[in-house]
Amino acid sequence: MKAICLKQPGGPEQLYLGEAEKPVCGENEVLIEVHATALNRADTLQRQGKYPPPKGASDTLGLEAAGVVKEVGKSVSNCQVGDRICCLLGGGGYAEFVKVHAEHVMPIPSDLDFYEAAAIPEVFLTAYQAIFKIARLEKEEKILIHAGASGVGTAAIQLAKSVGAEVFITASKPKHSLCLKLGADHAIDYKSQQFDEEILEITKGKGVDVLIDFMAASYINQNLNVLALDGRMVLLALMGGIKAKEINMAQILAKRLQITGSTLRSRIDAYKSNLIAGFKRDFLSEFETGKLKPIIDSIIPWTKVVEAHKKMDANLNAGKIILKVK
Ligand SMILES: NC(=O)c1ccc[n+]([C@@H]2O[C@H](COP(=O)([O-])OP(=O)(O)OC[C@H]3O[C@@H](n4cnc5c(N)ncnc54)[C@H](OP(=O)(O)O)[C@@H]3O)[C@@H](O)[C@H]2O)c1
Repeated sequence: MKAICLKQPGGPEQLYLGEAEKPVCGENEVLIEVHATALNRADTLQRQGKYPPPKGASDTLGLEAAGVVKEVGKSVSNCQVGDRICCLLGGGGYAEFVKVHAEHVMPIPSDLDFYEAAAIPEVFLTAYQAIFKIARLEKEEKILIHAGASGVGTAAIQLAKSVGAEVFITASKPKHSLCLKLGADHAIDYKSQQFDEEILEITKGKGVDVLIDFMAASYINQNLNVLALDGRMVLLALMGGIKAKEINMAQILAKRLQITGSTLRSRIDAYKSNLIAGFKRDFLSEFETGKLKPIIDSIIPWTKVVEAHKKMDANLNAGKIILKVK
């Protein structure tokens, strides 16, 4: 089958449309004919050799896909040949065919096409897990979402607003209008403003109850400043570096903070099955009512995968970059 291959770890130009072995569907799996896949920041790290796929996952890039079920394993009862589905993958989405655990697929909400559906799994499941499963956001609490216009950020804004939270985001200025349109109440330009000072002023010194962070070292002290009493922070990435100097630990103690990290890709199958079942139950129908929307920056033919990766490397996307496979 055709697939996006990697000549050697490095820049976007290392990617090319080549050939790979067609996957064989196991007894708890389904084989999907891929119509669309989507870029995630993790793909750019894997491309550079900095984020190897977990044990047992395909070497091919791609953490999500949307398409049609072509084969089902003998123990599978929740899917049929011909179903339109989108799915969460450990890898392998940048290909004509991918196999996936049958409990890691979701039916495509009616009215959504394959390109819109490919924008859902990785970022909405990551945001759902961080906000509700880990940080336990409650109605009317305050939440700060860094990288508000990222794929995960745009999903997180919508999920947090849907339960009535007050949403603060940071993003570069040109991306504020998208975040505000999605429901963010306050947008802060992290390049020209100090987000902790701004938020403490708006909240009259209280701060935020929940914080979703991707920056790590570069933001840790400002994050500690801005967390409220009993605040919960979930660290999802390390974009601002791994080693911080002079962390003020007193804030963690005095404010009774909870600081947690999480990765979705490395979770065991049963955890992912449970998470996906919860998301289907709690939120999937909201894509039919229009309350939730997959946010697409651009749809790019997979033959132009190099261009797609260059765009993400340059932080030029707001929302998801979709690769059109079919
Ligand atoms: N742990 C998990 O389970 C998990 C799962 C999925 C994704 N992630 C992580 O979540 C992050 C977002 O992923 P994504 O695919 O949604 O990303 P994305 O769409 O590529 O967006 C990332 C955005 O972050 C902002 N940014 C980049 N470097 C920054 C810096 N040093 N300081 C402040 N902002 C910066 C940029 O927007 P601006 O123009 O606003 O700067 C950029 O567009 C990635 O780091 C990814 O690896 C983690």
